Amino acid sequence: MTSQESAPNLTVQAEDPLEGLLLEDKSQFKTCSQIGFYRRQKLLHPDQSPYLAQLDTLKTENGIATLNIIHQRTKVPLQLQVIAVEGNIVRLKIKELSPLKPRYEVPDVLVKEPTTEREPAETDIKVQPDKSEATLKSNGSVTIRTRGTVTAKGDVFGLWKEKFGDFVDIKAHGPSSVGLDFTLHGFENVYGLPEHADIHCLKDTGENEAYRLYNLDVYGYCVYDKMGTYGSVPLLLAHKPSYTCGIFWLNASETLVEIHSKAALQSHLQSNSPDIRKQKAVPKMDIRWMSESGIVDVFLLLGPMPQNVFNQYAQLTGTQILPPLFSLGYHQCRWNYEDEADVEAVDSGFDEHNIPYDVFWLDIEHTDGKRYFTWDPDRFPDPVKMQNKLREKRRKLVVISDPHIKVDPNYTLYAEANERGYFVKDREMQNFEGSCWPGVSSYIDFTNPAAREWYSSQFSLDKYKNATDILFVWNDMNEPSVFDAPEMTMPKDAVHHQGWEHRDLHNLYGFYQQMSTSDGLIQRSGGKERPFVLTRSFFAGSQRYGAVWTGDNKAEWKYLKISVPMLLSLSVTGIAFCGADVGGFVGDPDPELLVRWYQAGSFQPFFRGHAMQGTKRREPWLFGEENTLLIRKAIKERYTLLPYWYLLFYRAYRTAELVMRPLWVEFSKYQDAFALESQYMLGNALLVAPVLDPGVKSIDVLFPGTGEYWYDFRTYTLVKGPHRQKVAVTLEEIPVFQRGGSIIPMRTAVGKSTAWMGSSPYELHVALDRKGLAVGELYVDDGYSLQYLHEHMYSHRRFTFSKNVLRSSSADKEGRYTVDCILEKVYIIGLKKSPSKVTAHCSGGKKTMEFTYNNQLCLLSLENLSLQVCADWEIHIA
Ligand code: NOJ
Repeated sequence: MTSQESAPNLTVQAEDPLEGLLLEDKSQFKTCSQIGFYRRQKLLHPDQSPYLAQLDTLKTENGIATLNIIHQRTKVPLQLQVIAVEGNIVRLKIKELSPLKPRYEVPDVLVKEPTTEREPAETDIKVQPDKSEATLKSNGSVTIRTRGTVTAKGDVFGLWKEKFGDFVDIKAHGPSSVGLDFTLHGFENVYGLPEHADIHCLKDTGENEAYRLYNLDVYGYCVYDKMGTYGSVPLLLAHKPSYTCGIFWLNASETLVEIHSKAALQSHLQSNSPDIRKQKAVPKMDIRWMSESGIVDVFLLLGPMPQNVFNQYAQLTGTQILPPLFSLGYHQCRWNYEDEADVEAVDSGFDEHNIPYDVFWLDIEHTDGKRYFTWDPDRFPDPVKMQNKLREKRRKLVVISDPHIKVDPNYTLYAEANERGYFVKDREMQNFEGSCWPGVSSYIDFTNPAAREWYSSQFSLDKYKNATDILFVWNDMNEPSVFDAPEMTMPKDAVHHQGWEHRDLHNLYGFYQQMSTSDGLIQRSGGKERPFVLTRSFFAGSQRYGAVWTGDNKAEWKYLKISVPMLLSLSVTGIAFCGADVGGFVGDPDPELLVRWYQAGSFQPFFRGHAMQGTKRREPWLFGEENTLLIRKAIKERYTLLPYWYLLFYRAYRTAELVMRPLWVEFSKYQDAFALESQYMLGNALLVAPVLDPGVKSIDVLFPGTGEYWYDFRTYTLVKGPHRQKVAVTLEEIPVFQRGGSIIPMRTAVGKSTAWMGSSPYELHVALDRKGLAVGELYVDDGYSLQYLHEHMYSHRRFTFSKNVLRSSSADKEGRYTVDCILEKVYIIGLKKSPSKVTAHCSGGKKTMEFTYNNQLCLLSLENLSLQVCADWEIHIA
């Protein structure tokens, strides 16, 4: 269903930007009822659409059906295009036939113009012109309904001007919102639409509320809330046991999504008596999308299985970039590490306490007066020496680079951007100026390709003074955050490249900064090395540029708890490399919370400890020997599992598989799992159930899957699914289970950082399913370069266990990388009887192996193998 409206300074000085920022205070952000286009769209009733489809204009050519629809009163004609896109995707585009002013069509998010399927087979669209309704028949049918435009006397609806507090948004081009309603027949569960601090399985939004997609700097956000936070992915997934589909709404302006779940009465023939009609309630979800401007450009991802939807979405927006291996290790951050001595002391602290970590982070205070790309001369007089020390430890440095640039003619970055006209303009076409960390700042217009290129070039080592090639980047405050502007972000009437208003593209701003930074790091290495860029703000497609974190959470249990559904929602919308500040950013965690957070974080994709300015220091060894031990254990376990993490990221990059998976994805027919968010899968082999409450002695774990075997990851005890069970917990660790049928590659020992582990031996955990089978993989490359991409420099192995033979073979013949690394240990879990003999067969010949067998656990351990992990070999168990 559709609606389309047709028809652009606010600065207050803030001395201390943090002063006045209240936690969980929503008053500086709009509620739905304070949003003009929402109020207008709410007046439109799906059943009374003023649009009429003009069937005589229907043309079909090369898989594209075009049809005019006309507003019956204003006679404004719109053009509807229905495009069958390759891979079971349908694209609907609705725009004005002859607009007074062109509307913004989101560039750069799609990886390429989608290929049209010339002969759309399975999908069939039935248009009902009188009802302005179209029904798309596929496995699960979707009804789409058009909606009308509203006009009002006066401006109560914010058609030309909208007030929020003291701020006034002048709409030079008048109202321009668009909307479309969908009914998803037979569905009860919908997911996606990050970023909200809310549950994973989205709820009915109620009558006058909606999930808001509007990127905002929400310090200490409220949990279980629908307000927009730092990023937006306008992708919603709907799932039922027989079918999964997705709606991808390609619009970068402020967007609101209402969800209404209803049961519709449907009559059906009674099976035992064909003449008697009966009524039964069939669930349905009504989804209403509304955006402030732009066009209707929506992709229906028609599944039918969850993985098909992920592939369809990846086909449009790309997959997760393969991260450098170091970035999957542990990251140590704090606002701020004070100076070079502090960096050295904390870095050494990790070694002294025998805790591995890979990346040291410097926040805004490392710069000279918050001028990014510079160093504070007093605190960091010799950054190169500091980086060289980290380099000797085989570790990396990440520094922050925000999009606001201090207005200071003597600051080269400012002067250059100013001279080249690379700043966003206000509506008088002067550089937009707003307040952020450095005081009065202007904002780079990353939507301008030339500005992006220029910004990218700032990372080159000849330009970025005192940076070395171990320095990587963190893009923060890129919603963008503007302290003295409406809702602490850029006013909507600011003007970008080619005259587009900020309102048209607001949600894309952070996406573009990360794109430009990521390109800069690749260019810095002459196109040879992988970038690492963390961003706070993001959009659909941001997965192509790096990692995302969930911003300013708090050191409270409820924030640890919400991190799981938040990361699951990011994961199902393509953003695999995601994490939450371990320990909680705002406030001081007590030791139990900190320990539990490390344990949870070590099983989440992006694993970084971070803390706000003014909080107590919380390096892992500051909470007594006992807690140091627990945190060390959690971090070390992460490092032993890195081969599995790396494989998951490779699969995410290659085949759009989720790293962190909600249970409904893996057990798509098992309804008990559909709303579960206290536990999740890592890949298809590990079930993780973090402890999310204080003082608990046991937690409830659901072991899904009929006939599935689940083995405790540390003790190897078996639980058979489907089963719900209280699992006893101690402070030692969180419950993790390996799925029968899987093989997990691990390292036998950890080093000071990932780089110290290049040649450390591997072990395989072979967990047998009820038929005595298991499969798994290993992916290896140099961990940092782009040679895997351009020169097939990788090794991708497959392991199978069947008929008592564990076999290693190549999973990808194109891979040319070899690594001299030993497989030292193999654990076969669930082997019913003790072998009489174990022999290893490889190119060097055949050898009898020593083994131990634990009857009670049905565990066979081979601990002194020395097979090449990337070679072909077999282990026979007689
Ligand atoms: C806000 C970010 O969310 C936080 O992580 C960072 O420490 C501060 N900005 C200061 O840069």
